[in-house]
Amino acid sequence: MGENKPVEFKKHTSIVIFGASGDLSKKKTFPALFGLFREGYLDASCKIIGFARSKLSDDDLRKKIEPNLKKPNGEKDTEKVTQFLQMVTYISGPYDQSEGYEKLRKAFEDHEKENKVERPNRLFYLALPPSAFVSVCKEIKKTVYAENGENRVVVEKPFGHDLDSFRELQNDLAPLFSEDELFRIDHYLGKEMVKNLVLIRFGNTFLNAAWNKENIQNIQISFKEPFGTEGRGGYFDEIGIIRDVMQNHLLQILTLLTMERPVAFDAESVRDEKVRVLKAFAPIDTNDILTGQYGPSEDGSKPGYLDDDTVDPKSKCVTFAAIGFKIQNERWDGVPIVMRAGKALNEGKVEIRIQFKGVPSGMFNEIAHNELVIRVQPDEAIYLKVNSKTPGLSTSCQVTELDLTYARRYKDFWIPEAYEALIKDVMTGDHSNFVRDDELDVSWKLFTPLLNHLEGPDAPTPEKYAYGSRGPKNLVKFLENHDYVFEDSNLYQWPVSTPGVASNNSKI
Ligand code: NDP
Ligand code: BG6
Repeated sequence: MGENKPVEFKKHTSIVIFGASGDLSKKKTFPALFGLFREGYLDASCKIIGFARSKLSDDDLRKKIEPNLKKPNGEKDTEKVTQFLQMVTYISGPYDQSEGYEKLRKAFEDHEKENKVERPNRLFYLALPPSAFVSVCKEIKKTVYAENGENRVVVEKPFGHDLDSFRELQNDLAPLFSEDELFRIDHYLGKEMVKNLVLIRFGNTFLNAAWNKENIQNIQISFKEPFGTEGRGGYFDEIGIIRDVMQNHLLQILTLLTMERPVAFDAESVRDEKVRVLKAFAPIDTNDILTGQYGPSEDGSKPGYLDDDTVDPKSKCVTFAAIGFKIQNERWDGVPIVMRAGKALNEGKVEIRIQFKGVPSGMFNEIAHNELVIRVQPDEAIYLKVNSKTPGLSTSCQVTELDLTYARRYKDFWIPEAYEALIKDVMTGDHSNFVRDDELDVSWKLFTPLLNHLEGPDAPTPEKYAYGSRGPKNLVKFLENHDYVFEDSNLYQWPVSTPGVASNNSKI
């Protein structure tokens, strides 16, 4: 760990993107492959085939994906784009019949023969709706699986809709591919700051020593998006915010934050600890939750959730939730943990907030709690709010910050996009940042009773909040009930705004 060795990619890898005509491929998968190519992590000798039902030519696909192939600063590198697009071709075929797969096998075999590859290295990326997962996997196994080589199959969430459907999916996939061959993507595990959690925690003695119920007053993980479900209402109505980002992305963050020290840094040791801590979670108390659904914005310029024509006008779909968690183990017993997520809020932000216990009173009248904030996005940052003497002759105390703002500290570093980091891991066979089957089983066990409650006949009506607000009015009370102390804004002011760094501080 900590080494910065260049990753050796196998030459001549054969890659296929199923669902190549879709949105995910266009916005994430192809740009991520391009990013790896641009940065020298994907060899030009690899072959990339797009596969989908739409009748497209190679050039049609290239034209579709080309606008999203950019440098991190948004500029074009025309030479690299041209080289990359030469690696990309397209095959059209149905997902559940063998004709397209035969063509795919031939294309892979030709590529491998031409390059005298003895042990083929094949990567199958399923950028597809879950309804197509199983038939595609069966066809891959039947026709394109390299018996004498390496096969890696990447699947995207959702991994089931609840515990039963997850187990069904798992039972269908397990006979086809080994756990070693399957890579379940939770793209939050590819985000720089999420990957940093294990290091921050276990690589810093002072933090590690304070990471427990004796010192921590509460933990919050917060996901905020400034837009609603516009255009996706019909899809979202079946899913809701809990399945969309909490059971997966935020729970992954929470397990990394709360697990015990893994015996080693390898994938299985880390995932063993994640599963272990998940098993120590108390069942979610259906009274310890706040749900919301957004209505129109206060000025009426933005529509409410129910204004979407594709949504049932009586829908109780949850677009905001705050959930209280308890972990029943020696480290965390009694520490309130709040996970909250919402669409159509006042800002876009994902952050982890660890609030420490107050210092003993007596010496100080009013002194703020230390808080460690890990901002996952936008503009990665870690800051620790600390109390310090006001400079000068004054003996008063003020809150300031030990601040690690990535944009300032790591100006010359390439911070990969989540998908770039994860596809690199797939190519090197590293499972650390992918979700294991038993993790999913425990997490669905935890969430399914709550989802049944929220979607059952006696489902509570979510509290309305205005599009563009901080969420339901009861959120402040909910956080207070979980011991979160919102410090008086006079105590803390973030002083400067740095170009490229979030400066949404209304208190300045
Ligand atoms: P905020 O003041 O933004 O928020 C602190 C926490 O309190 C959040 O969980 C927030 O929730 C919650 N909160 C906000 N308003 C209320 C309310 N009225 N009642 C109860 N809870 C509330 O964060 P910080 O104090 O950490 O930082 C202040 C500002 O300084 C931020 O804009 C931050 O980005 C900036 N800053 C930036 C740094 C950097 O870029 N490196 C370093 C330090 C500070 P919610 O999110 O839902 O509003
Ligand atoms: C996806 C959800 O998994 O994550 C979306 O389906 C959500 O609804 C997205 O917007 C958030 O990802 P990111 O990387 O933009 O924070």
